[in-house]
Amino acid sequence: MKTKPILLAAALFLFGVPLAAQDAYHPVARDTLDEDTYSGWKTYEVNCARCHGEYGVGTSFAPSLVVSLKEGGTIPTEADFMTVVCAGRADKGMPAWCTMGMEIGQIQKMYMYLKSRADGKVSAGRPARRTAG
Ligand code: HEC
Repeated sequence: MKTKPILLAAALFLFGVPLAAQDAYHPVARDTLDEDTYSGWKTYEVNCARCHGEYGVGTSFAPSLVVSLKEGGTIPTEADFMTVVCAGRADKGMPAWCTMGMEIGQIQKMYMYLKSRADGKVSAGRPARRTAG
């Protein structure tokens, strides 16, 4: 029986994702992000999600940044975001990320991701990365 591996390869080629990977731990990505926004998502998940919740949804400890960055929210502009994230609010439990060595470029990329979430362009859930070409 030599046909089975070929059929599987064909299925992978046609559907683009390994079918076996679609389990509870590897859900299919809902949104495909450009390189910078994807990088912002990763930086966010590693550094911020433990307080602000996965995908920016908030926790009982820190506010939902999806809500804060909405039009009319508490962080209406990119400049507001940069200021708070860089300098933090030490008295309120928000760390100062510039002091901890985070680069401005990474903070801008996080803004791109969170702003897309706030504007409803990207939904909660693990995104995929757009590959060049
Ligand atoms: C140790 C927990 C903690 C971590 C980690 C953390 N934050 Fe915060 N953050 C807070 C808390 C608490 C507040 C609310 C402060 C207040 O009450 O003014 C806050 C506030 C903010 C605000 C202002 C929200 C608003 O509506 O005023 C922004 C923006 C923000 N954080 C972004 C980030 C980003 C981006 C990261 C990751 C680089 C991050 N935070 C990591 C705890 C955290």
